[in-house]
Amino acid sequence: MAKFNKKTVEDLAVNGKRVLVRCDFNVPLKEGVITDDTRIRAALPTIQYLVDNGARVILCSHLGKPKGTAKPELTLAPVAARLTELLGKEVLFAADDEVVGPNAKAAVEAMKDGDVILLQNTRFRPEEEKNVENFSEELGSLADLFVNDAFGTAHRAHCSTVGVTNYVKESANGYLMAKEVEFLGNAVENPVRPFVCILGGAKVADKLAVIENLLNKADTLIIGGGMAYTFLKAKGYEIGTSLLDDTKVDYCKEMLDRAEKNGVQLLLPVDTVVTKEFPDPIDAEIETEVYDSDKIPADKMGMDIGPKTRALFSDAIKNAKTVVWNGPMGVFENPQLAEGTKAVARALAEADCTSIIGGGDSAAAVNSLGFADRITHISTGGGASLEFLEGKELPGITAMTDKD
Ligand code: 3PG
Ligand code: MG
Repeated sequence: MAKFNKKTVEDLAVNGKRVLVRCDFNVPLKEGVITDDTRIRAALPTIQYLVDNGARVILCSHLGKPKGTAKPELTLAPVAARLTELLGKEVLFAADDEVVGPNAKAAVEAMKDGDVILLQNTRFRPEEEKNVENFSEELGSLADLFVNDAFGTAHRAHCSTVGVTNYVKESANGYLMAKEVEFLGNAVENPVRPFVCILGGAKVADKLAVIENLLNKADTLIIGGGMAYTFLKAKGYEIGTSLLDDTKVDYCKEMLDRAEKNGVQLLLPVDTVVTKEFPDPIDAEIETEVYDSDKIPADKMGMDIGPKTRALFSDAIKNAKTVVWNGPMGVFENPQLAEGTKAVARALAEADCTSIIGGGDSAAAVNSLGFADRITHISTGGGASLEFLEGKELPGITAMTDKD
């Protein structure tokens, strides 16, 4: 990632100006009720700054994957209501299915300095994800300035994150974006060492570029979760019926060699919790056993890291000065298979280090354990934080105006 030399919201003259702010209000909903408002709260500092400095604040976001059509269940109306509560001032919702429609235009026309409105779900428009100019232009026509604070969507080059910057005078990053870049960027580019990275989750294929990048940066790379079994296979172990991506065994061999060549300690599970089958439903009670990783029976599948591995991983975390964690260690949705993920969350909370979590599952694990306030930074980005760890430039950041 290039150095962060982009304008931030404080570099803009916002008083009396119409400022379009792209947030990531892609929050989980259950029957129209927001079940986790972390992303809404994370956007408040930028919104509050703009209100306090006399801007006319026009918020926009996507929600879910409506794929270019208006889906009533994916309306942003509940977000406007929650924002109204959290800001303590009315956030008017412009309910146009075409996003930039008569309601939005009239609302913007009527705005006074310090007012806040929210547009409808940008993905109701088929142009949004294709970054087609006409919708970018429509969005830009509402505003003088643009602020991108949607870190969770910074890896997407869409109308509302990138295209719109061509139709406003200046574009800048918001406070959330700057904070995410500071923590994730510093951790990867300039870590206080020892620097330990923990990767989990089901698929190796999702993490190929992350592993490669981190093998050039980390002192210790810990691999758990479903993806670890392809690595164990690459070491020549039999892994029973555990999750295996047999197209990635050679890749894993190469990474094991590279770790050795680079002097990176690569830790894999030394023991594993197995079951006969995948629990159905996922949280069903199930019989578990523990085997060393090189002794997994042919008819059993690995579902979580075992007790020896929990201790091994926790020790590595204890000695770290910077830790980045992405992805669960097992099928943590099942309480009997959640001990590995919990152990990592606990070790991170107890460690005397800068601790950074990216990815919804790991964040959910620390939240449910009540450890969230003992973690230095919990990223609001899943895919975006992963691309950051890959060392990629994020289009939603790159498109902002350079600092003078
Ligand atoms: C996310 O939740 O990861 C972001 O809001 C981006 O959403 P997307 O993966 O649907 O682009
Ligand atoms: Mg304009």
